[in-house]
Amino acid sequence: MALYNMKEILLDAQKRAYGVGYFNAVNLEMIRAYIEAAEELDSPIIIGTAEALLPIAPFEWIVPAMLDAARRARVPVAVHLDHTYHFNTLMQALRAGFGSIMYDGSRESHEDNLQHSAAIARIAHGMGVGLECELGSVSGLSDEAGHEDKMVYTEPSEAAAFLERTGADFLAVSIGTVHGVYKAEPHLDIPRLKQIRAAVDAPLVLHGGSGLSDADFQNTIAGGIVKINVFTDVILAAKRALAEHPEASYNDGICLAREAMKEATLEKLRIFGSAGKA
Ligand code: 13P
Repeated sequence: MALYNMKEILLDAQKRAYGVGYFNAVNLEMIRAYIEAAEELDSPIIIGTAEALLPIAPFEWIVPAMLDAARRARVPVAVHLDHTYHFNTLMQALRAGFGSIMYDGSRESHEDNLQHSAAIARIAHGMGVGLECELGSVSGLSDEAGHEDKMVYTEPSEAAAFLERTGADFLAVSIGTVHGVYKAEPHLDIPRLKQIRAAVDAPLVLHGGSGLSDADFQNTIAGGIVKINVFTDVILAAKRALAEHPEASYNDGICLAREAMKEATLEKLRIFGSAGKA
């Protein structure tokens, strides 16, 4: 029985200065890969899905599977909703049973982001659900019209007022990471991260965790990040495993992909320092 709330997991990580991985899941094989990796390392883990992934995995199919796997896991597992932009989807997520949700207002003006985040926080908190919001903007994702998000660094001087006015529980920061595959070597603004950390107490979230170096992870965790979102590296690992075995049957391919995703997850959990912290 190890379904945890994300807040419990992240507050422990904050106290003991390690990072916790968040991984998106769109099928049973991903859920299994993540939880097996976490169990093997005795590590807490956060799994979930995002609005953009709904065409692959509707809430009514994937959320019960994640909650059930979390309850049966031997390690703490939280089930969280990643990047979501629309009110209706957020309400459906609350009904589906996520323990925490992300409202991503980073495409909006600062004032709209504030007001919408605050409105969602009131509803989520009324249902005992935690809220992650983004201040600034991490680039790499695209909206429905195909426009890619711009990179806007988080302004440390705005962080405390943003959290106070919205009531958000977790803050996603923009310090130079990008979602997806990096087109150029990432340069993370660690001094900016430390300024944000000094200004607020809320757990800080790093998006775009694929393609970063071990040193990047060590520096960001030392700088105050406690949740690190990873997706691209996991699906690339599965894709490589399948490409290396074109002769594999469908069933064998499922197992090869799952093993590759588990390996990719193990690698991240070890770097984040969460092994042995369950
Ligand atoms: P990557 O796909 O770059 O790992 O980013 C994942 C992420 O931040 C999900 O919110």
